[in-house]
Amino acid sequence: MPSEQTPRSASPLQADPQLDTYFSTEAERRTKTREMFDSAAFAYDRAEGITALGTGAWYRRYALSRAGLREGMRVLDVAAGTGLVSREACRLIGPQGRLTALDPSPGMLAELRKKLDVETLEAYAEAIPLDDGGVDFLSMGYALRHVADLDQVFREYLRVLKPGGTACVMEITRPRSALGRLLMKLYIRGVVPLLSRLSRSGPEVGLLWEYYWDTIQASVSPEEVMQAMRRAGFAEVRSNVTLGVFREYLGNKAA
Ligand SMILES: C[S@@+](CC[C@H](N)C(=O)[O-])C[C@H]1O[C@@H](n2cnc3c(N)ncnc32)[C@H](O)[C@@H]1O
Repeated sequence: MPSEQTPRSASPLQADPQLDTYFSTEAERRTKTREMFDSAAFAYDRAEGITALGTGAWYRRYALSRAGLREGMRVLDVAAGTGLVSREACRLIGPQGRLTALDPSPGMLAELRKKLDVETLEAYAEAIPLDDGGVDFLSMGYALRHVADLDQVFREYLRVLKPGGTACVMEITRPRSALGRLLMKLYIRGVVPLLSRLSRSGPEVGLLWEYYWDTIQASVSPEEVMQAMRRAGFAEVRSNVTLGVFREYLGNKAA
């Protein structure tokens, strides 16, 4: 839960008693989230493949491409995890491009290094250890719910982008209808952990996916996310939605 230094208005999560069962302070949230990802890292790709029914790579590449990622660009992939967004970004930028993968979880980054030979940074989105204005394109996949403060994160994104650069933040959003929410909850909290157990992914993945659903359920609205991007100074803030739940938030740094 956010501390006094983190105003509730900038948190990506609304107050929710279910989230209080995981941790009670911001420091504890940070440590436990990292531990959760570290211990589930070995099975993350398998569980993600089940959740996305195998469409994950295709969708990530499609989202990056329609956001304007092109050959030769300099990319920062924030919350890179095991590298599922980074891998698709590398395909699009080709050998002339350059990608840096940033994540606070050493376990997730170790998995990423098994598939990609790129520069990695063990760090948080809230404090990116890169100079101002060096990046053409910044991506973040399915991690906005894990940051402490949207305002701080979007200010950091704007700082590291070159003038004219683009940020593309992919996130799952809560379905609008009660039936949609029920089906998604049954799928993410029931079917995915069961299939993960059957495929011997271990209890760590079950816990991660329960938390996954609880944070989707508690997320602030897409409009609030876009307002935070505008407050940080992003121009042309917009979002694309696929199948009502997969969303990309996009914004540019003024040229
Ligand atoms: C659900 S995974 C997503 C990984 C990858 N982007 C993908 O598309 O599969 C979320 C990642 O966010 C990372 N993360 C959590 N809190 C973060 C923060 N404050 N800043 C940057 N990354 C964070 C976790 O370590 C984890 O690797």
